Amino acid sequence: MTQDEMKKLVAEAAISYVEAGTIVGVGTGSTANHFIDALAKIKHKIDGTVASSVASAERLKQHGIPVFDLTSVNEIAVYVDGADESNRYLHLVKGGGGALTREKIVAACSDKFVCIADESKLVDTLGTFPLPVEVIPMARSMVARALVKLGGQPVYREGFVTDNGNIILDVHNLVIAEPCKLEEQINNITGVVTNGLFALRPADVLLLGTQDGVRTIT
Ligand code: 5RP
Repeated sequence: MTQDEMKKLVAEAAISYVEAGTIVGVGTGSTANHFIDALAKIKHKIDGTVASSVASAERLKQHGIPVFDLTSVNEIAVYVDGADESNRYLHLVKGGGGALTREKIVAACSDKFVCIADESKLVDTLGTFPLPVEVIPMARSMVARALVKLGGQPVYREGFVTDNGNIILDVHNLVIAEPCKLEEQINNITGVVTNGLFALRPADVLLLGTQDGVRTIT
């Protein structure tokens, strides 16, 4: 099985977590795109979706799936999204696609967070994948200096603007031994919108695509 086939496998497996008559939170990226395509097949069973990015909202609408603003929704039963890395505690690094802030908001107000990923994403220690940090543009240099003090090497993501009009710093060389602590520390830097660590609100379930099929980790 290729990496993409494993992504499709777990995306289809995540459909079993979708309950009829509910609002579904939808993530961003190639694995989430497979989930959107699978969701289209049962679209008549759900009330609609909340999307974590403009790109996902567009794909959902192309399938004729209703997309609501988060402000008009009371409850999201399940949020399904990919990840760049997960450890065994389901602490995640996300934001490779730059949608981390909206992803974190939708995850925060969902009853259940189902993460879908191929087996390459499971790691012992987070940090090999550079940690994305969304930053207010005028604070770029100031935040970069603060990230260096935390032991990282921030790299400006050239030519990229988030859906919120901000920039991304990708922080290399972090060995993330205490994900909750680092998530708080980075979020406390003035000028940071949020960072791609999902540890304070980890996933509840990780569906991992392997050569032997779907492995479920809780
Ligand atoms: C986007 C994300 C994605 O979930 C993450 O980058 C994984 O992407 P893919 O499913 O394409 O491997 O956080 O901001």
